[in-house]
Amino acid sequence: MCYERIRLKEESSRCLLCLEGPCSKNCSKGMDTAAILRSIRFDNLHGAVSRVEASCVDCDGDCMKACRRSQIDGAVNIPGVLKDLKAVCKPDQKVIDMPDLHITSMGVEFENPFLLSSSIVGSNYEMVARAFDQGWAGVAFKTIGMFTPQEASPRFSALGKESNPMIGFKNIEQISDHTLEENLGYIKKLKEDYPSKVIIASIMGRDAQEWRHLAELMEEAGADIIECNFSCPQMVGEGLGSDVGTNPDLVREYTAAVRRGTSLPILAKMTPNITDMTVPAKAAMEAGADGIAAINTIKSVMNIDLESFASAPSVSGKSSVGGYSGKAVKPIALRFIQDMKKDPNLADLTISGMGGIETWKDAAEFLTCGCQTIQITTAVMQYGYRIIDDLIDGLRRYMSRNGFTHVQEVVGLALRNIVPCENLDRKTIEYPRIRHENCVKCGRCFVSCEDGGHQAIVMHPKTGYPTLDPRKCVGCQLCRVVCPTGAITQGTRVVPKFHVG
Ligand SMILES: Cc1cc2nc3c(=O)[nH]c(=O)nc-3n(C[C@H](O)[C@H](O)[C@H](O)COP(=O)(O)O)c2cc1C
Repeated sequence: MCYERIRLKEESSRCLLCLEGPCSKNCSKGMDTAAILRSIRFDNLHGAVSRVEASCVDCDGDCMKACRRSQIDGAVNIPGVLKDLKAVCKPDQKVIDMPDLHITSMGVEFENPFLLSSSIVGSNYEMVARAFDQGWAGVAFKTIGMFTPQEASPRFSALGKESNPMIGFKNIEQISDHTLEENLGYIKKLKEDYPSKVIIASIMGRDAQEWRHLAELMEEAGADIIECNFSCPQMVGEGLGSDVGTNPDLVREYTAAVRRGTSLPILAKMTPNITDMTVPAKAAMEAGADGIAAINTIKSVMNIDLESFASAPSVSGKSSVGGYSGKAVKPIALRFIQDMKKDPNLADLTISGMGGIETWKDAAEFLTCGCQTIQITTAVMQYGYRIIDDLIDGLRRYMSRNGFTHVQEVVGLALRNIVPCENLDRKTIEYPRIRHENCVKCGRCFVSCEDGGHQAIVMHPKTGYPTLDPRKCVGCQLCRVVCPTGAITQGTRVVPKFHVG
């Protein structure tokens, strides 16, 4: 039996990710167990295992005695987690030649590809300075306009599933509620104090004149790049927000206005509330943009209370359509990004990608779909700026293990494997492989195949193990997707003997 990986995931996800992990303070070996648990949570297993002391095996669990989870339902079994970690992941052999994460995009140098995306997470001097100190390479500052909106309260809600309280996030926030003068002051001071960090000024005008004027002001204040927010789904007022991003004529007009106001690189930020993003993207590029930022949030209605019938966030009993973001939107973001990169007229497009990025693996997926830089909001709202540690360390270690020396080498690698539906191999199928050594006979594969598949699994009457009927199996692999123990793996591809179709 090898359930270390499952135990590792389940038990480490019980960690509350405390502010100052009391487990670390109590560790008799002086290990930063809280940081190790965080690295596990953020998929940086190699980084985590590299920090586990060899002497940890003799430990009598002092870390556990301080665990705050014990006040709820029992301490996290930290020694067990570390033992399982060591079983599933060996430390990297070569960590000396860590790849350099520098990247140049639109002529601007980034010390690494990780930026805060335009939102509350980068909305004043003090916040951005703290993020920079922790290692973020830049910020797309909270969208600045010529007016300050009146915000609603509350303005956030989250979609959870099972023990995860937040797989998707909804907000009804508008642009910056600081005055224009305050925002210009923040940008100026940030550039003075952090000259090597990249400041992207996100702007939103109400007409061409405002767009141009804002661009002029941002350049004067010291911004490195202008990002045009054509995409906020909950702006109040006609001709604002994602209304602009769905209208290529407006995108063209406002991008051209910004181009007249600045010589800085321009990113046009796209809305996913559209079928074909390539249309406004082309309009922006034709009008003088240097690249595209994608995606902004997705229009959504969330969490209807079945007593009051108010949806969330409920503002005195009412809510409105608002922007959906976080882990759940990642596949949608990647789809739009690959659409643009696969368009022959946009193949050389510079993209700053975002939408649901939490871990270095998420970020690497965006890079492989052709993004040069990565922007993040929701994961920072949920976990704080400190996720940058595992974003950087995890990406470096991945690159080192795979022989990449520069981030640019990863950019676009997955695109060649995303093909039109009609080009997929439909002549062969891949039967799933059921491995008894990892199977606990729970029957989840049977249930799913029976009610959501092709009735190709039988629970063996004597052994109790699921068994595949190759005459009925079509290789859809729903069983593999739902198996909670990883007992079902990919088999080999074969020409089906029995049927199909
Ligand atoms: C609370 C909140 C406020 C946001 N405000 C802005 C904004 O002012 N300007 C903007 O261009 N995007 C804004 N966004 C969108 C994010 O920058 C980002 O495009 C989107 O949330 C997807 O990334 P994520 O899943 O990492 O959050 C906001 C998102 C959230 C959650």
